[in-house]
Amino acid sequence: MEARVTAHARYTIADIDKRLYGSFLEHLGRAVYTGIYEPGHPTALPNGMRKDVIDLVRELDTPVCRYPGGNFVSAYNWEDGIGAKESRPTRLDLAWRTSESNQVGIHEFAEWAEAAGTDMMLAVNLGSRGLDSARNFVEYVNHPGGSQWSDLRRQNGRADPWNVKLWCLGNEMDGPWQVGHKSAAEYGHLANETAKAIRAFDDKLELIVCGSSHSDMATYPQWEATVLDATYDQVDYISLHMYFENYENKTSEFLALPEKLDRYIGTVSGVIDFVKGSKRSKRDVKISFDEWNVWYHERKNDAKRMREWDWPHAPVLLEDIYNFEDVLQVGCIINTFIRRSDVVRVACIAQLVNVIAPIMTEPGGSSWRQTIYHPFHLASRYGRGTALHLDVDCASYASNVADAVSYLDIAGVHDGDAGTITFFAVNRHGSERLSIKLAMERFGSIKTVEHILIKHDDLEARNTKDNPHNVAPRKSDDAVVEGNGVSVSVPPYSYSVIRVRL
Ligand code: AHR
Repeated sequence: MEARVTAHARYTIADIDKRLYGSFLEHLGRAVYTGIYEPGHPTALPNGMRKDVIDLVRELDTPVCRYPGGNFVSAYNWEDGIGAKESRPTRLDLAWRTSESNQVGIHEFAEWAEAAGTDMMLAVNLGSRGLDSARNFVEYVNHPGGSQWSDLRRQNGRADPWNVKLWCLGNEMDGPWQVGHKSAAEYGHLANETAKAIRAFDDKLELIVCGSSHSDMATYPQWEATVLDATYDQVDYISLHMYFENYENKTSEFLALPEKLDRYIGTVSGVIDFVKGSKRSKRDVKISFDEWNVWYHERKNDAKRMREWDWPHAPVLLEDIYNFEDVLQVGCIINTFIRRSDVVRVACIAQLVNVIAPIMTEPGGSSWRQTIYHPFHLASRYGRGTALHLDVDCASYASNVADAVSYLDIAGVHDGDAGTITFFAVNRHGSERLSIKLAMERFGSIKTVEHILIKHDDLEARNTKDNPHNVAPRKSDDAVVEGNGVSVSVPPYSYSVIRVRL
């Protein structure tokens, strides 16, 4: 099968915000305890953080990490995680029916984030708590000193404020499963008042209001319209979440789901414009897609286990083991964000360690890269610069979510400083190679091309502790420069990065 793709130097979408490659770490399962934090582990730093995990996160180069939840944040008291560790309370976490020892709180997470080379993106509790605890938390984190909460931070060992810029106004407040779930009108009012209080402290902070938990919610997209109507002048982003499932074990349907993601982004973008228009506003609100990933391998099993257990601390939970098929899906999802990078400015893979995550750890033992680590890593590394509007000519197939799903899913990024164009390409055809002609107009002449390929004959292939490199990128020599273009042949069901040096 053949495909033709044309990039033109003047056909651009947006300068990509590097926070498109953000991540998420929740107090959930083994994400924190025995994930990033494990005193006594052979690689543990004096503060108990695992150095092997820090190294993997550094390699992933995720510019921002959302914390501490997720559903967890909706019944979380941030004050439980400060002060002497031995005096911190153990609480019942109502979201995941576990015990929370609070041995990691904001100080420990901030130290970890600095070591891991990522900025903090913090969520406040608008479920069981509200405006007052949110404004105190912001003061604790961001005020230099001379007030009750900032002086307490100083007493607790941190003199300088952390100056956290991105703040989430709660989490998934449209979800009936959320502690303190609210109607759109109730939440819109609370979020607006909380945002006003935070802005009174510092109007340069970037605030994220909750949109829908997914696009099948009964309240979607009216939720967005109501919430934005109440908060439009105070917020910078609306948060969306989506998880991808393949319970039917049908690869073609699974890989079509990014079409639904694209429509979700397009619809919410339209709602933003509608509210902006109705308010005669010139202010822009963008999308923070701050939870996304494949999540289904262990999901039903986990829901059953949770109902039966007795408040364990840091149990195995949501530990999906990803396969090669998920590499293709993650590739298509990130491509969608790049193509929508004019409106999606922040996105966070959910999550980062152990819990539906690219990085896995064994308590007391090794850590390794799941299959999905690789497409995320390659995009985070090479997908910075200006997103290109590509003209794509390729055959398509019909699916449940869209009538025409192109067999070639592709995104292109021009990095003017590095003098490169990088294409991220997924062949969604299960039996045919794709011969792709990439034309690049008005970029100057092409010097070299490099092709990085992720391919495995078994869609179910996984990386495990004992076989950690089963699915991994390798160099391929299937790409050649032809005049002012590149010709590349990619195998069926494969993920490719094609790097053109200008
Ligand atoms: O990431 C797992 C959970 O998924 C988060 O806690 C919640 O926000 C979402 O429903």
